Amino acid sequence: MAHSKPARFLDLAALFFWVVLSSIRVCAQSPGQALRDAGVEARVEALVKQMTLEEKVGQVIQRDAGGSLTGPGRGGSGWDSMAARGEFGSLFNLTNPPWINAVQRAAVERSRLRIPVLFGLDVIHGFRTTFPVPLGMAATWDPSLVERAARVAAEEASATGIRWTFSPMVDIARDARWGRIVEGAGEDPYLGAAMARAYVVGYEGARLDASDSIAACAKHYVGYGAAEGGRDYNTVDMSERTLRQVYLPPFKAAVDAGAATLMSAFNSLNEVPTSANAFTLTRVLRDEWKFRGFVVSDYDAINELIQHGIANDARTAARKAFLAGVDMDMEDGLYGNLVELVRSGAVPEATMDEAVRRILRVKYALGLFDRPYVQEAPRSAGIKAEHRELARQAAEESFVLLKNDPARNGAPALPISEGARTIALVGPLADSARDMLGSWSTSASRPEDVVTLRAALTARCRERHLNLLYAPGTTVSGQSESGFREAVNVARQADVVLMALGEEGTMSGEANSRTRLDLPGNQEQLLTAVAGAGKPVVVVLFSGRPLALTSTLPHMSALLEVWFPGIEAGPAIVRTLFGDAAPSGRLTVSFPRTVGQEPLYYNALNTGRPAEGLDLTHPPRNAAERYHSRYIDELNAPLFPFGYGLSYTRFAYSPVTLSATRVSARTLNSQNGASLRVSAEVKNTGNRAGEEVVQLYIRERGTSVARPVRELKGFKRVALGPGESRRVEFTLGRDELAFWNIDMQNAVEPAAVTVWIGPSSAEGPQAQFEITE
Ligand code: BGC
Repeated sequence: MAHSKPARFLDLAALFFWVVLSSIRVCAQSPGQALRDAGVEARVEALVKQMTLEEKVGQVIQRDAGGSLTGPGRGGSGWDSMAARGEFGSLFNLTNPPWINAVQRAAVERSRLRIPVLFGLDVIHGFRTTFPVPLGMAATWDPSLVERAARVAAEEASATGIRWTFSPMVDIARDARWGRIVEGAGEDPYLGAAMARAYVVGYEGARLDASDSIAACAKHYVGYGAAEGGRDYNTVDMSERTLRQVYLPPFKAAVDAGAATLMSAFNSLNEVPTSANAFTLTRVLRDEWKFRGFVVSDYDAINELIQHGIANDARTAARKAFLAGVDMDMEDGLYGNLVELVRSGAVPEATMDEAVRRILRVKYALGLFDRPYVQEAPRSAGIKAEHRELARQAAEESFVLLKNDPARNGAPALPISEGARTIALVGPLADSARDMLGSWSTSASRPEDVVTLRAALTARCRERHLNLLYAPGTTVSGQSESGFREAVNVARQADVVLMALGEEGTMSGEANSRTRLDLPGNQEQLLTAVAGAGKPVVVVLFSGRPLALTSTLPHMSALLEVWFPGIEAGPAIVRTLFGDAAPSGRLTVSFPRTVGQEPLYYNALNTGRPAEGLDLTHPPRNAAERYHSRYIDELNAPLFPFGYGLSYTRFAYSPVTLSATRVSARTLNSQNGASLRVSAEVKNTGNRAGEEVVQLYIRERGTSVARPVRELKGFKRVALGPGESRRVEFTLGRDELAFWNIDMQNAVEPAAVTVWIGPSSAEGPQAQFEITE
């Protein structure tokens, strides 16, 4: 029956107040809650009801603008005309506010239902302010700093109209050959989960609908980092238990923190491509985790289902990906097939509606319907001072001091002694601004924003009246030795030699797998030649992955791993070398002795024939030495273990104290917050201030499935002045002690538990406790 006029007026008034109220409610919500908001839901539902099939299909399509306003629309028209026709729901790689507004205006003012476009970009480690690469950010072991850096990235990106970043990459990576190890947090799921949370909270802020918040995208779902042989895009095969125990936790943490989107991956997982994997995309993500945002495919990943061999044509590829749970198609243009697929009944319209709901939900939660445009007024052109300051702090916290031997006067090579009057700076990375940005810098980041090591060192030497001699010596990948003589020459004249060695910024990242992990080109020969001058050699190592440094290490007095530090590379390195800042980063990836040890990770299983206690420095001499899980030509241990990093001071650990030595599995499983407290006193025994990353590890024995020899279950960064000590306490409860058992239940089991509190995965005092029935 038709409504009478007054009734319709009341309806409209109610709707009006409800919209106002619900938008106020959304404002007060965390990003995760915004995806569950009843008000948003009602608006989504009302809109979906009005949509034609073509309009729905438009929403599940994402296009790559490639930095240009000219789109591939019919008749050569631009993105704006396509937006007016509702031909895509999202566009990425457009960073110019007037262009973004032009496309948005077409969508909001000319399309039938006025649905705004969601603009995305790979904002990976900063937008204009480039921070250290993610592997470096993880080495800070400082989630609050990572969160602040992500916030800065969100503020800068959103100011150009970007409301969605394809970050964080939360893939666990245990193989240094894989180039994308640089984009994640390393090999550990506990640390990976902490970093995932920090990025999501930083990007999405307190309110997703704030104009300076951007939606996060946890990627690449899932298992991508386990590519066989470390070769990008390669096959991944693992047990469901390993998947759940190691590779899923950072994604789960991102979802629980409110991540609005996920990206499916390129790889197959147990023979099913992850962009058509209903088990991971629907059963785990939707049914178990109750994820309410949407999933976008990785670039061309749906089309690649044909190469994977599970579809013989585009239509089938689109159907399989969509039915498995990929809601939006990134650029491969196959979801256009969904109109016909739905019409023919091959894809239920209800599935289409659900995908559209998920996408619209995120758009509403972002406030895009209410505030679709970005402000075009000119903003200050430069980088804010506080953003630069944070970039420097992040870089300093990310540096890992791997070696610091005494130089000739008996004092450690670092910090550089007051007595050093002449400094030689050698190496191909000393003055390369572009490399400092690492892989995945945005179109907004600029080499001219970078202060290189050479520039910062020149300023410091001028200020302190020191002599600085500079000779690059070689290029990163070059073979020519023509620059060696000059390099050796400056080394001879110096009191200390700083060598900036490593990889180019773009030698890691996507499609950059390596089979060799040594220094590229002839840098090792340069190092050997320069070391021959007999002066202390401090290597500043730039890399996007662990390198195998066994043969080069003896030529170095000190080694500082600095990853790719971003715009404040130079000032951060100089302040660290001179002792204004003390290195406090710790490795989140194991550094191998040789590439043949890869994949290499600390949290491995013990095996039935562990080599523990054996002297592996020589080949086995008899059966007792041979039949162990070992190599005949190399140690098992990494060159530098997970969690490792020196400081300019020393820290001592007291014995570990437990609040109880027995705790029952039943109590822990009941989830009533039952826990055990574990602590140790950490003391700065040196004469300089420093920060220690105190790490807690456990090992469980006697369980239904084999558990790793050590697992990180807590960490805290503590600053201690000389002589100062502090008791550092952790709690172990269900979250820390449960695992996926023989029945594929996540539960705490009776076990004998060893717990360590120490400075890395290879050291620290231990204590034991028992988990009873
Ligand atoms: C990468 C993703 C990235 C996407 C969009 C792909 O090649 O694997 O990580 O987000 O491109 O640029």
